[in-house]
Order: sequence, then C-alpha cells, then structure tokens
Amino acid sequence: MGRLIAVGKVADIPEGEAKLVAVDRRDVAVFRSGGAFYAIDDCCPHAGASLAGGHVEDGVVTCPWHAWRFRLADGAWADNPRIKTGCYTVTVVGDDVFVEVA
Ligand code: FES
Repeated sequence: MGRLIAVGKVADIPEGEAKLVAVDRRDVAVFRSGGAFYAIDDCCPHAGASLAGGHVEDGVVTCPWHAWRFRLADGAWADNPRIKTGCYTVTVVGDDVFVEVA
C-alpha cells in the first residue's frame, strides 16, 4: 500500500463533478460518479486540457477540448484502451477523501 494523501472532503466533490488537486507535484482530477470516487491524471494525454473540467457521465469523463473519453476506473481512453492516463486508488474515511500514491 502506498501513501494516502488527503485531498479534501466528500462534500467538496458533488456527484458528477471533479476537483483538481495537487498530489506530489502532479495535477490529479478527483471525480465522483455513481456515488464512487475516482482519481486520474488531470492532463489529457492528447493535448493537455484539464480533465477536471470535462463532462462526467456513467464513469467516463469527456475531455472539454476534443471530446476524448476516459474511463475513470482505470484511466483508459474509452475508444482505444491501449492509451491510458495515470490512475490512482481513492479511499474515503468518514468525510475525508484520500488519493493513494506509491
Ligand atoms: S486535449 Fe483532450 S481530447 Fe484533445
């Protein structure tokens, strides 16, 4: 198990939205979708848009610039899963949200 980094409170991330956080100098987008929390690298691997600003639906975020879609559960590009962005385990303890890093 890696280190748990506190990134905010459950109430900070409403359903269907995301919060951009800094984790070990990385920009990470923490999402809430279907009642679950997910974390992937914020920077879209296509051209660098912030995925935290994307549309979230059914466990997938759509990049706000060119509409590439990424699965929140594993960071894979929904249309070509060989391309992935970084993905992190999220743990909720009480009202606190943590992202796990190595
Ligand atoms: S920058 Fe994300 S799809 Fe182009």
